[in-house]
Amino acid sequence: MSEKDNKMEKIVSLCKRRGFVFQGSEIYGGLKGTWDLGPLGVALNNNIKREWWNMFVEQREDMYGLDAAILMNEKVWEASGHTGAGFSDPVVECKKEGHRFRADHLENLDSCPTCGSIFGEVKNFNLMFETQVGPEGDVKSYLRPETAQGIFVNFKNIVDSMSPKLPFGIAQIGKAFRNEIAPREFLFRVREFEQMEIEYFVSEAEWKEEFEKLRLEIQKWHAHLGLSEENIREYEVPENDLAHYSKRTIDFEYNYPGKGFDELAGFAYRTDHDLKSHEEASGVKMRYTPAEGAPFIPHVLEPSFGLGRVMTAVLVEAYTEDEMNGEVRSYLKLPAHLAPYRVAVSPLLKNKPQLVEKAREVFGMLKKEFGNVAWDDNGNVGKRYRRQDEIGTPYCVVIDFDTLGEEQAELKDTVTVRHRDTGEQERIAIAELKEYIK
Ligand code: GAP
Repeated sequence: MSEKDNKMEKIVSLCKRRGFVFQGSEIYGGLKGTWDLGPLGVALNNNIKREWWNMFVEQREDMYGLDAAILMNEKVWEASGHTGAGFSDPVVECKKEGHRFRADHLENLDSCPTCGSIFGEVKNFNLMFETQVGPEGDVKSYLRPETAQGIFVNFKNIVDSMSPKLPFGIAQIGKAFRNEIAPREFLFRVREFEQMEIEYFVSEAEWKEEFEKLRLEIQKWHAHLGLSEENIREYEVPENDLAHYSKRTIDFEYNYPGKGFDELAGFAYRTDHDLKSHEEASGVKMRYTPAEGAPFIPHVLEPSFGLGRVMTAVLVEAYTEDEMNGEVRSYLKLPAHLAPYRVAVSPLLKNKPQLVEKAREVFGMLKKEFGNVAWDDNGNVGKRYRRQDEIGTPYCVVIDFDTLGEEQAELKDTVTVRHRDTGEQERIAIAELKEYIK
């Protein structure tokens, strides 16, 4: 096994062991293509979403938030083209044992790579999950395969209620579902996932200029996540490979261990395809009225991020092995704004009531300020450091006898702050701790 495959295995194992990611429905043997986020995974995922929302919505004047329903009228998906061949994958099944594959992921269709038997014919398989709504079950619906359509069908609502000026964007974070033929590679290709998407509406004349601006913002976002430049690549999707709605797409690819560069996020110019299709299908005008001139259907640029792939990239980038005090240690070098816990607090000894009381006081103060603060009094201090290193906590604060003023009076009301990346320790006054950690 190569070192890179090994790295991914170590990360997957860490995710399970330390409460980041569990297999979906694990006690029943799992459900392929589903994963559950544990306490630390939720924290990391929420931090990524909060940073994204802050950067792409709150820090801008031209973005509007939305949270649309997952179940939508089936006509939405007919109009968008998702019920047709455009959202299908080619599937083949072998004749002997029924192994199924995506035909376009096989090197050739001569024989089944699992059992060697021949394949039946290639069929188109639509990736949407179909469901029935209501007790009669006569109303068909789909679990949305992208959050984007929720944005398009609300275009008029946003224009009417918020009076935005072009160019402007509508952003949404939410679940999406695809009945992938071959879910695989941890969070990379799953059947239920979260997306963070923006539909950025522009006039046709300005799409190229706005495309470049957004592309820079996406690059800044990846830097904000701590992803290094050499692990990110922009891939210009060739014309014959573009999605049915796109005239230009750049895939932002990440260098996943054991896999190499593959799609992290997509950035597409979708023209006026979606608004035009919805206008035609619904009969409702999907137009923007400029200060001067006639109403028109805007064109759209779409940055689309899958949270599972972002989270995997963040974990890969953060996973580090080094040697500390003569021992190999593995830790997550997460940026402080993404770490599940910002700081962990512990009393040097958990059987000394004065230490515990003081440590609880410091913990309460920090928790009120930061929220994501861990209390850790298990094992000895060395073990606590290792545990916190492994989940990426940037600082550990330890309350000891000096804090109580019992050993060196001048150190009273100071604590040890230990740094994750270097293992260095400093003495900081409790009164300055909040500011220091900030
Ligand atoms: N609205 C456009 C759209 O959905 P996409 O390229 O199909 O475009 C966008 O998906 C992003 O969603 C991808 O870059 C990826 O990060 C994520 N994604 C798509 N399918 C996925 C799957 N089966 N599992 C995990 N993430 C997925």
